[in-house]
Amino acid sequence: MNQPHGGRLINRLASPERAMELERRARELPLLVLNAFELSDLEMLAIGAFSPLEGFMTRQDFASVVQERRLPNGLVWTLPVTLAVSKSEAQEFSTRGQAALATPNGERVAILEIEDIFSFDREEEARQVFRTTDTHHPGVQYLTSRGEVYVGGRIEVFRRPQRPFSHYRLDPVDTRRIFEARGWKTVVGFQTRNPVHRAHEYIQKMALEIVDGLLLHPIAGETKSDDLSLDVRLRCYEVLIENYYPKDRVVLALNPASMRYAGPREAVFHALIRKNFGCTHFIVGRDHAGVGNYYGPYDSQRIFSDFQPSELGITPLFFEHTFYCRSCDGIASPKTCGHQPEARVILSGTQVRAILRQGGELPREFTRPEVARVLHEAFRAQGGA
Ligand code: ADX
Repeated sequence: MNQPHGGRLINRLASPERAMELERRARELPLLVLNAFELSDLEMLAIGAFSPLEGFMTRQDFASVVQERRLPNGLVWTLPVTLAVSKSEAQEFSTRGQAALATPNGERVAILEIEDIFSFDREEEARQVFRTTDTHHPGVQYLTSRGEVYVGGRIEVFRRPQRPFSHYRLDPVDTRRIFEARGWKTVVGFQTRNPVHRAHEYIQKMALEIVDGLLLHPIAGETKSDDLSLDVRLRCYEVLIENYYPKDRVVLALNPASMRYAGPREAVFHALIRKNFGCTHFIVGRDHAGVGNYYGPYDSQRIFSDFQPSELGITPLFFEHTFYCRSCDGIASPKTCGHQPEARVILSGTQVRAILRQGGELPREFTRPEVARVLHEAFRAQGGA
């Protein structure tokens, strides 16, 4: 079984007895209400999906990650995990104090040991992390909408907020146990935020040819507003697995993280998260975690060569742009197909949404008919939204 990043799986979920005590203490503490994005980060921290992180980043962690793509101890870590407050809110908290962390509805769920309260250069963060300061970029947009001060420190969760699709909520301890029980020595993780199409299926199955098991791990946290809802994406996977996959080689589970849309840096971040869930391999295809034209189609693959394989501890599997080719009569990529571009069935996410909105048919070369049916129904139910 692959070791967690940093060697130890972090657990910041309080035991039932301790949870009662923390809950009592939290009632007396100043309240810090998280937004949905921060709440998903809190969950990732608590379950060890962000191992070795044990809390929101301090100034030193943050500066090191933004500038060096490493934690201060040298361990590779490519994206900030931060908790933001406004300047006026920041005055309510004092360093070395504690705060109660609450869900957006005000339900207290965790205690933060405040270690640091610091301001930061927002533009510099955007430039380094997203390679752009353009506020049309969803990651930059989110960054700009947040408070100007970060609060760092270890967290401890005493109550896990109720989440939908609880049967797909597997923590790293759970996935690790399942992989072990199935006798899988090698497992490939697949990150996704979009409804599954045949190119996805192809690269998943290509990867599965060389490993023992496949972890289908869609993002369950925040995504940008035009990305498809989680229940629809899950239904697509259910019908696909039912009809086309060997069930004993696949685990479908949710990754509680939110999308950052940080392209290359997020590809490494995604790989390290899946390492924590027990994967040995991770799929990085075309424009992984990209958005618009902010990143080159293979930047998210190139970044992996900036690090030693041993420092990552998970093997990336790279795939080129994959499509259905009418002349090959199968799924292929520029690596395996020499036919003319006219033979290729390629649809962007925007084109897919436009077809669905107009009630049109998705080509079966692009989407399995069972999956297309789920998507059509979802769009019809939303009145073409
Ligand atoms: S992402 O934001 O999570 O990367 P998406 O769900 O579309 O978006 O992609 C999931 C994974 O499949 C990523 O590794 C991405 O690079 C890869 N991928 C998506 N479409 C293709 C394609 N046509 N060819 C090759 N890889 C692809």
